[in-house]
Amino acid sequence: MSKVFSCSEVCLSMQVFCIVLLNLIKVESAFRMLLSRLTIQMKIKPRCCSTNARREGPVHLSVNGREFQRDTWSNVSSKILSHLGKKLHLQKYHPLSLIKQRIVNLFYKRFVGRTGNPIFSVYDDLEPIVSIKQNFDSLLIPPYHQSRKKSDCYYINCDYLLRAHTTAHQSELIGMGLNNFLVIGDVYRRDEIDSTHYPVFHQVDAVRLCGKHEVFRSIENGDKMAVFENEGERTAQKQEAHTLEASKIMEDELKSTLIVLAQDLFGQEVKYRWVDAYFPFTHPSWELEVHHQDKWMELLGCGIMEQRILQNAGAQDRIGWALGLGLERLAMCLYDIPDIRLFWSTDSGFLSQFENRDPHDCIKYKPVSIYPQCINDISFWLPNDGDYTSNDFYDLVREIGGDIVEQISLVDKYFHPKKQHTSHCYRIVYRHMEKTLTQEEVNTIHKQIEKAVALKFNVSIR
Ligand code: DAH
Repeated sequence: MSKVFSCSEVCLSMQVFCIVLLNLIKVESAFRMLLSRLTIQMKIKPRCCSTNARREGPVHLSVNGREFQRDTWSNVSSKILSHLGKKLHLQKYHPLSLIKQRIVNLFYKRFVGRTGNPIFSVYDDLEPIVSIKQNFDSLLIPPYHQSRKKSDCYYINCDYLLRAHTTAHQSELIGMGLNNFLVIGDVYRRDEIDSTHYPVFHQVDAVRLCGKHEVFRSIENGDKMAVFENEGERTAQKQEAHTLEASKIMEDELKSTLIVLAQDLFGQEVKYRWVDAYFPFTHPSWELEVHHQDKWMELLGCGIMEQRILQNAGAQDRIGWALGLGLERLAMCLYDIPDIRLFWSTDSGFLSQFENRDPHDCIKYKPVSIYPQCINDISFWLPNDGDYTSNDFYDLVREIGGDIVEQISLVDKYFHPKKQHTSHCYRIVYRHMEKTLTQEEVNTIHKQIEKAVALKFNVSIR
């Protein structure tokens, strides 16, 4: 029988076997270490995951014309994505756009440059798709912070999400060299839906950065004062990098601006209070509350910007304040709008109540019926005496139609050159608060209006 292995051969084989085994063990433990490191990294925050981790369904997600790879972080639904192009804050006469304009006007008026021009610039159309860095990292939001959770945000994938606040653009705009700016836009947060919560809402963020000369501009011998100190201490009043004087002057400018804003919105007599707050991107931080309809309402959050954010964005020689405010709650208070979902209504019964109004008007919303509208038009040649105004017609329609007339608008004007006559066409929208009106019921009232118009203005209906 031939031996398979001689003694020396066996010894040699054993040696080789042992070396191979040892190496295998080394490789395995190195692999284990690498794996555990990777796992730790994955647990801290979403970083790009393998494509094996893809979810079921389409591999790509198309958002605003851009293609994104789906992964285990993707949780944005098509329903939410359908809100992306709506931009309610940019729709003329939308209540959110009226409030937005009122806030912008205040900043334009209060902060002017040498020539009297506004120094704040407004960014109200920035893309709502932002990176993890923009929404969280650049604002020093800790890796384990609740606000990063998948249960709280709409992630497109592990690298991008729909911005959860307009603060997401702060660092980038500072990096571009801006010192005074407002960011206004739609923000997205996973939340319940009820009369005061909706997963899409609108915010305004303001940022103001000042250099040494601006901070101490109204202080005698201000040029001898400092904004920064070395080895300073962080206290409840200030950050380690700032002098107490600089921080207090900025706090004062911030708070006085916000009191003027609250007075502009709620009236000179408004009762307000400052509440200490915490935000990862400001210190010290406050919330401003106003007393409205027997309740304290949180109006906004604000504070002195963390110096590290300014340093990272290349504005280390400046000190800044910032604030963030939600538009919906404010509009609901000011206009008596009872339900946040109404802002998304395209019903003309809702929108027409704000149409052609000025941002500074006092508007009180009247509930719109849930029953369907009935629309009838009426056209006539205007009387020749030249005294006629559309308001005369509106009054007459309301007198006859009463509460079932929801809206009246002039939809067409026509001048006949030969006859030298003008014709108006008005649209009357009828709607009952408690029942569906039949076309017959509406026709009866519409006929009465036609008759009354013919009689009162001595015109013939066309
Ligand atoms: N981003 C905060 C939020 O959504 C609001 C906020 C607070 C913005 C303080 C700021 C700020 O710029 O300084 O709740």
